[in-house]
Amino acid sequence: MGEFDFKPGNFPFANRNALLDDYTPEEFVGRDDELQEYHAALQPAIDGSQPDNIFLFGKTGVGKTAATRFLFDRLESAGENYDVGIKTKLINCDGIDTSYRIGVELVNTFRETGEKISETGHPRSKVYDMMWEAFDNHGGLIILVLDEIDHVQDDSLLYQLSRARENRELTSARVSVVGISNDLSYRDRLSPKVRSSLCERSINFPAYSADELREVLRQRESIAFQDDVLGGGVIPLCAAYGAQESGDARKALDLLLKAGDIAQEEGADQVIDEHVRRGRKLLQREEVTRGILGLNEHERILLYAVTTFEAGNESPVRSRDLYRRYESFCEQAGRESLTSRWMHDHIDELEMLGLLAVDKRNEGSTGGQYKTVTLNQDINPVLKALEQIINTVGIHQSIKSQM
Ligand SMILES: Nc1ncnc2c1ncn2[C@@H]1O[C@H](COP(=O)(O)OP(=O)(O)O)[C@@H](O)[C@H]1O
Ligand SMILES: [Mg+2]
Repeated sequence: MGEFDFKPGNFPFANRNALLDDYTPEEFVGRDDELQEYHAALQPAIDGSQPDNIFLFGKTGVGKTAATRFLFDRLESAGENYDVGIKTKLINCDGIDTSYRIGVELVNTFRETGEKISETGHPRSKVYDMMWEAFDNHGGLIILVLDEIDHVQDDSLLYQLSRARENRELTSARVSVVGISNDLSYRDRLSPKVRSSLCERSINFPAYSADELREVLRQRESIAFQDDVLGGGVIPLCAAYGAQESGDARKALDLLLKAGDIAQEEGADQVIDEHVRRGRKLLQREEVTRGILGLNEHERILLYAVTTFEAGNESPVRSRDLYRRYESFCEQAGRESLTSRWMHDHIDELEMLGLLAVDKRNEGSTGGQYKTVTLNQDINPVLKALEQIINTVGIHQSIKSQM
């Protein structure tokens, strides 16, 4: 067989799909307390009464969406088994980010084919009227899950739904809302009325500990991998890195997948720690690139300036020296430079993205404080992601050898 022939045998995987994002695990480990609370909050639905509105919050990757799918599958089957009419609808607001659009989506969910409405061109109050009507025509208990609710730009729909709870809009239907947010400050931004209505029950999903991540990964190992192909250190290592990086199960699972892919490409006969370490580097690179692609032009010029100090072994750099280089880069690019105040704010933002490390130092006798800045990533992937801005500004001498 030639080098480029395809042959069956997914070693080391048995079911690689089980490590992908949209896979819903049959078992849910490591979230017992949260599941119990969530389950108890939904239980009234099966007893024929209306659950409180629930607000679920926690950072990304801590199992909020997966726990919701897991419990709602069970709630729907129980509804059928015990013959309790429960209609559930899950909307991810990441793609549908206004109350208006969610309203239209809901109208269309509850209307028959042929009676659906177009996505634009209705007064908003009309959309809500059609929504109440559609809900009432369906009747019974309706549970709406609004996932990533922090993407919704206005709280008009939530306001309407809180009024519906006071029974001012609906006659034969009742609606409960589950709002899920990755953004911990979302709740505080809501108006008091909406907040007290949406957050009748709040359930916090904390970051995973390394122990919990090990459980999650072990459970997935048994489905995703062939028997005994993971070296003993692989799962503990993925779990440790995952816990270190904000306790995100998605990241830990991605890392395990990457390690498996590397082992496969290599034709190794086991997945070992080294594959995990290399996988981590690759994933970090991808993340850096994604982070940089999200920056605007001035932030890129600033990052480029830091990178040149790093490449010239002049790092950490004092912020005022950094500002000078940023200014001259702007000039070279034919752009108006922004203020040093702007730069200070954005140094902090780039630090939050993990691109820079910032240190505050005392000035000595004058008692003032100043910042020093270091690049917090390997130079090469950063330069690669900055290619476009480097073309605009020009190649600084410190990086000549690397371009
Ligand atoms: N306790 C768990 N058991 C099994 N898989 C989990 C668990 N928690 C999270 N996952 C998996 O991790 C990934 C991220 O979880 P997700 O629920 O999407 O996070 P969130 O919605 O909080 O951002 C998903 O692929 C999910 O299946
Ligand atoms: Mg989610």
